[in-house]
Amino acid sequence: MCGIIGIVGREPVAGHLVDSLKRLEYRGYDSAGVATLEPGGVLTRRRAEGKLRNLEARLAKEPLVGLVGIGHTRWATHGAPTESNAHPHATARVAIVHNGIIENFRELRDELIAAGQVFSSETDSEVVAQLVDHHLGAGLSPELAVAAALKRLKGAFALAFLFPADDDLVVGARRGSPLAVGWGDGEMYLGSDALALAPFTDRITYLEEGDWVAIRRGGAVIHDETDAVVARPLTVVSASAFQVDRGNYRHFMAKEIHEQPEVIGHTLARYIDLAAERIRLPATLPFDWAKLDRLTIVACGTAFYAGLTAKYWFEQFARLPVEIDVASEFRYREPPLADNGLALFVSQSGETADTLASLRYCKAHGLHTAAVVNVPTSTIAREAEIVFPTLAGPEIGVASTKAFTCQLVVMACLAIAAGKARGRLSEAEEHTLVRALGELPGLLARALKAEPKIERLARQIAKARDVIYLGRGSSFPIALEGALKLKEISYIHSEGYAAGELKHGPIALIDETMPVVVIAPHDRTYEKTVSNMQEVAARGGRIVLITCEKGAAEASVPTLETIVMPDMPPEIAPVVYAVPIQMLAYHTAVFMGTDVDQPRNLAKSVTVE
Ligand code: F6R
Repeated sequence: MCGIIGIVGREPVAGHLVDSLKRLEYRGYDSAGVATLEPGGVLTRRRAEGKLRNLEARLAKEPLVGLVGIGHTRWATHGAPTESNAHPHATARVAIVHNGIIENFRELRDELIAAGQVFSSETDSEVVAQLVDHHLGAGLSPELAVAAALKRLKGAFALAFLFPADDDLVVGARRGSPLAVGWGDGEMYLGSDALALAPFTDRITYLEEGDWVAIRRGGAVIHDETDAVVARPLTVVSASAFQVDRGNYRHFMAKEIHEQPEVIGHTLARYIDLAAERIRLPATLPFDWAKLDRLTIVACGTAFYAGLTAKYWFEQFARLPVEIDVASEFRYREPPLADNGLALFVSQSGETADTLASLRYCKAHGLHTAAVVNVPTSTIAREAEIVFPTLAGPEIGVASTKAFTCQLVVMACLAIAAGKARGRLSEAEEHTLVRALGELPGLLARALKAEPKIERLARQIAKARDVIYLGRGSSFPIALEGALKLKEISYIHSEGYAAGELKHGPIALIDETMPVVVIAPHDRTYEKTVSNMQEVAARGGRIVLITCEKGAAEASVPTLETIVMPDMPPEIAPVVYAVPIQMLAYHTAVFMGTDVDQPRNLAKSVTVE
């Protein structure tokens, strides 16, 4: 994961940049760097592989004295965690730090090389420096050069820029990854979160999606994605908020929903090498994918639904038979286990009692055990033979959101690795799937844009007594998850069904009072789901269709509302379609006035049976 800091200060900033980066260490990183403008406007960098102490040692030997600078902790995505790939990336005219993924970096790189720009690293990030440099070379001012570059970038990211031509300026931009402005006394700051800015100020402005900002010693000018100057509220952050920061959001759940483009980017960075378009797992695994006879997935609640989605991937990509069960059933039914089996436990907290007991059962029976866990210090993480961490960061809202999508992404990567190892996926298929995964942060950011429409729809859903969710294939678990999210935080009774099961019973419930949320990306079962929607419509049911642009164009059924997601490869749709169902549950609960972050009767970590 990456962390960003920028300071336009009145005293040398290098030490402050490093102090601030230390507060971002929790995100994980494998190299770090700072750049400052030295006297005479000379842009100077210090970068180091590994921990911040290496960067500090470098700075002790070769100090920087500039009053304006940017800093970065890097979690390698494109290119190894070497010094030359570490940020800041610089040309003679600009230095940049970047968090996130630039999806169209190849296309831009080719274009810029053809235009005479000379690259010195393998990273997607350098393309941003070269693009801004190109615009500066054409005579644009630093701010206009950034604004022009932003219009060309695809993906989800946060950025900070430093310009030798102006020692009273740092420019920042956010799309998909958070960035906050800190207000000091004759000094201004930029940081990935309020925590990074805590040593300097408690006066914070959170940038909104698509914003970019120019900070100078005298203040900040914020622009939205159309480049119009906008006002964003200034928040005084309380001391406790520096521990777990709710940002500008009313609830942790809202913040965590919105963090998904970023945390999915971080999680992908751990498991894929986007430049090589390959899955990247630890070099040695305690088991051999090719020799497995069966995969047993065990989890509870939302984590179980993530496992159920993964079943579709493991079967499709790797032709690996998958057994899946909820932990509370698995542990007591004493299931026979395959000799050459792997058991995979999925848990946000890593402390869920039933999941832990199931893990111990499998270990005792000699099965290989692996865990997909968000809390790295948890018991499940410690006891499993191997841990595949989700890098969702602390999840505070009781209703799981970002941990769920991170679980999905980790298991999608595992399924692709299994498919490759079992000879079921070719190299070209791996490349295609990895490229699709790389698009997720950007797609999630686009999915979040449906929020105003979903908020309006939530007012209608709030009036319902029951709600049905339908989906087919890998959208079926998303239907189950949608129903769970809604019932746990709004207390409206809701059920998820496989769309094909409708006729086998649930259709008896349909009348004009019943909202039916249909999750239907345009995949190979889309037509079948449309038939099911027709059956619902014929009985007066009120359909909420969540589909893609193509699906919306072809849907021939009257709906209460159609929520349109971007078109995307069907394999990654479950990750993106999780977002609208989370937002629908959230806004329904907010409208009903429930305790969204701590719904009645529920605990974040279920350590009892
Ligand atoms: C629902 C939810 C729960 C958890 C379940 C398992 O939003 O959060 O259903 O998914 O209690 O918890 P973990 O993942 O911590 O094992």
